[in-house]
Amino acid sequence: MAQKVLITGGAGFIGRFVAAQLLERGDDVRVLDSLIPQVHGDGLAPGVLPAEVDLMTGDVRDIDAVRRALKGIDKVVHLAAEVGVGQSMYAIDRYTSVNDLGTATLFQALIDDPVARVVVASSMSIYGEGLYKDSEGTTHEDVLRRPRGPNDASWDPLDAAGLPMEPIPTPETKRPTLASVYAITKFVQERLTLTVAPAYGMEGVALRLWNAYGPGQALSNPYTGVLAIFASRIANGVAPVIFEDGQQRRDFVHVKDVARAFLLALDHPKAAGGVFNIGSGEDRSVNDVATLLADAMGRADIRPEIAGKARAGDIRHCIPDIDKAVEQLGFEPIEDFRDGLTELAEWVSRQEATDRVGEARQELEARGLVA
Ligand code: UD1
Repeated sequence: MAQKVLITGGAGFIGRFVAAQLLERGDDVRVLDSLIPQVHGDGLAPGVLPAEVDLMTGDVRDIDAVRRALKGIDKVVHLAAEVGVGQSMYAIDRYTSVNDLGTATLFQALIDDPVARVVVASSMSIYGEGLYKDSEGTTHEDVLRRPRGPNDASWDPLDAAGLPMEPIPTPETKRPTLASVYAITKFVQERLTLTVAPAYGMEGVALRLWNAYGPGQALSNPYTGVLAIFASRIANGVAPVIFEDGQQRRDFVHVKDVARAFLLALDHPKAAGGVFNIGSGEDRSVNDVATLLADAMGRADIRPEIAGKARAGDIRHCIPDIDKAVEQLGFEPIEDFRDGLTELAEWVSRQEATDRVGEARQELEARGLVA
């Protein structure tokens, strides 16, 4: 039977794909989104959201707006959030307010108007550094990044013997180590969902997302995901700037695979009460993705600039173990990374991308947040 799903922040990058997939299978979709200028510029561009979406413009911290949005809703996907790790380290009040007060307001309203299930977008950033293996083969889950000295050869965390440790897939059981304001807010969102939902007869689910990419990510937002930032730079004929040495590893997961994970999390009986890592299962260095993207965009002449400085709040490596989502939810990442880059390049070629990355970098540097 068709369900009515509310997506908070549903006009954003991930929400649009979730909305499209829900509509495709016959569900009704309402979106509550405040359309912030940092993401949406002067307003929602035509065609960004399918016409069948019932769009309500409003802030997730406005309880009256949330109450209106919840009328007649069966399930909620909670995506409304500020998303930049770097920016969270100076816009502390804004990130904490939107992400945590926003989630608190949603649950305050849900007490009076409960739904069957709430799925929240958590983040791999809550792990801090992922799991590592030291040079003797011992696993460590409490690795902390220490400040790098001028004589250090490696950006990687070092073991007791002074050798770089190797990142290994991180399962959901790893203890969270919150290394940025963003990570703190995401952990609070996740815990609010998993604590409050069952107290009021609802099911809560948290998806810990790795780095989502794909067409539609806000190109002119200098605090968006790294692939959109690089795409915007390359489209403007300028070299992407890579923090550290570019050997930091991430898992880039196509936004369509992420959206499929949300649909599974909304419906699967085994999802209730759980946290699930969502990634592609393939990790890559930031250097490699910069080069592959420039090639896909036909700009093999543009090679990245290595900043040799780290952004405060960033972690070095974190790669996912996605077995739990695969085994319990039947999650299967199916999008090929190179095809995804080709698709992204094709989409970018049809966009106007204002490159504001230089300003953002100056903003972080002026505050001592890149060193
Ligand atoms: C991203 C998401 C976050 C999500 C998380 C999950 C955004 C804005 N952030 O954060 O919401 O929860 O993935 O994994 O989409 N880098 C550069 N140059 C740049 C920008 C970034 O080298 O110009 C590097 C960073 O230092 C970092 C890596 O690229 O090492 C990834 O950065 P970013 O795309 O901001 O991702 P996360 O911080 O992982």
